[in-house]
Amino acid sequence: MLVVALPRLSSRATASDLVDYTLTAAPMPFSPVPGLNFPGLAYNGTIPGPLLRIVHGQRLRATFINKTGQGSTIHWHGMILPNNMDGADGVTQPAVPPGGSFLYEFPPDPPGTRWYHDHVSDGLLRGLFGMIIVEDPRDLRPDAEFALVFHDVPKLSTVGPAMMGIGNAPMTDPPGSPELMQMTSDDKMGDEVAFSAHCINGAAYPNTKRLAVKVGQHVRLRILNANPTQTRYVRLAGHRLTVTHSDGNPLARPIEVDALRVGVAERYDAWFEVSAPGSWLLQGLSSDPLAYEQAAVVHTDGMEQAPPMASSQSLEGVDFLTYEKAGGTGGALPAQSGAHYDFTLDGGKYGSSRWTINGQTYPNTPKIYVHRNDIVNVRFLNKTDMEHPMHLHGHVFEVTEIDGTALMRPLAKDTSLVRANGGTLSWRFRANSPAGKWLLHCHNAIHMMDGMMTLVEYV
Ligand code: C2O
Ligand code: CU
Repeated sequence: MLVVALPRLSSRATASDLVDYTLTAAPMPFSPVPGLNFPGLAYNGTIPGPLLRIVHGQRLRATFINKTGQGSTIHWHGMILPNNMDGADGVTQPAVPPGGSFLYEFPPDPPGTRWYHDHVSDGLLRGLFGMIIVEDPRDLRPDAEFALVFHDVPKLSTVGPAMMGIGNAPMTDPPGSPELMQMTSDDKMGDEVAFSAHCINGAAYPNTKRLAVKVGQHVRLRILNANPTQTRYVRLAGHRLTVTHSDGNPLARPIEVDALRVGVAERYDAWFEVSAPGSWLLQGLSSDPLAYEQAAVVHTDGMEQAPPMASSQSLEGVDFLTYEKAGGTGGALPAQSGAHYDFTLDGGKYGSSRWTINGQTYPNTPKIYVHRNDIVNVRFLNKTDMEHPMHLHGHVFEVTEIDGTALMRPLAKDTSLVRANGGTLSWRFRANSPAGKWLLHCHNAIHMMDGMMTLVEYV
């Protein structure tokens, strides 16, 4: 595997180090493509918010100043942290009122590619998100590294109807391969909310920032899908990608693929080697023609003006990352130890504003009560025709089973896609996070607002 021969970062943090950031959220008109004027909300005047970097072992102090004109909080997605720092509106803190401020302070853990975002009303849809990298001193050192936030500009007029279950009729599939059709079923999530631009780090192609690399370099990509409803398939033309981390957590072994499947709120770290001069497109693949704009040029010296090699938008024959591939199949289903919860995901019928867990919407959904060090198994069964990116705050869980197949190397994650139309997926986690109430919810913003949410509560 290409990454094993690289030098390691030396540890350079001590626990006494403190890193200070100020994040001021305020309205910002956002125009990533000509003619589009989106009433954005931004941290420090940029969408996405600033890339925060900290070395594992350092302490983060983030002063949040809310000038949005509405309530807001910051949730630190993927972090294990004191419960009152989790930023869950109405659960771990009241929303910070307009004009108010809040001090978030904690030692970010575990290391890896994490992110932060608003956890009140429509802040996430309007631009309040950013990546935070918690550098792992044990990681291999890349020759170059790019942090890429894939995000999209929603048509806000479609959000209300989507919440009522009366959103856009499904798009007519363009003629294409069975895989493209299959992909459209993922994109069905987006048929509820329509999008007017697809961006990487605040711009749409061809205005995205070019990523300069050199022949011989080992390059690390850190990719976040901050879209509120849609899965992204990400591919770099002319290259295979070696995936090392899922949601910031190291894979038991790296895995090589053509493309990444990045569900809502998921992150992947993937490496590639620059073996020849050239210019290539890093693209989000989609059956939605608008999404062709979601691309950035990767080029070697002197090739910045060369027409970049591009991938076809079809997924036909494309070897993309799945949990089965990342974790390997063929293991035995784990012997059941600990508590077991069965959660059936349902709702979302036409005309309905309900997305349910065991027939209920939050706060009437069944809760998970835990004692310290309990082992908890959760098995999801998805009865809807959309996939659900299920997320747990304040913990890293292991994905142990998908559609009845056990993973040989359970995947450490904080968000995982449960397949549509009868898909199942199981998590296992140990209740060894700080005591408190931790949200468990679907990260599709519409489904979350429509009730597909519950709590893990330490008692
Ligand atoms: Cu990204 Cu409730 O979370
Ligand atoms: Cu969902």
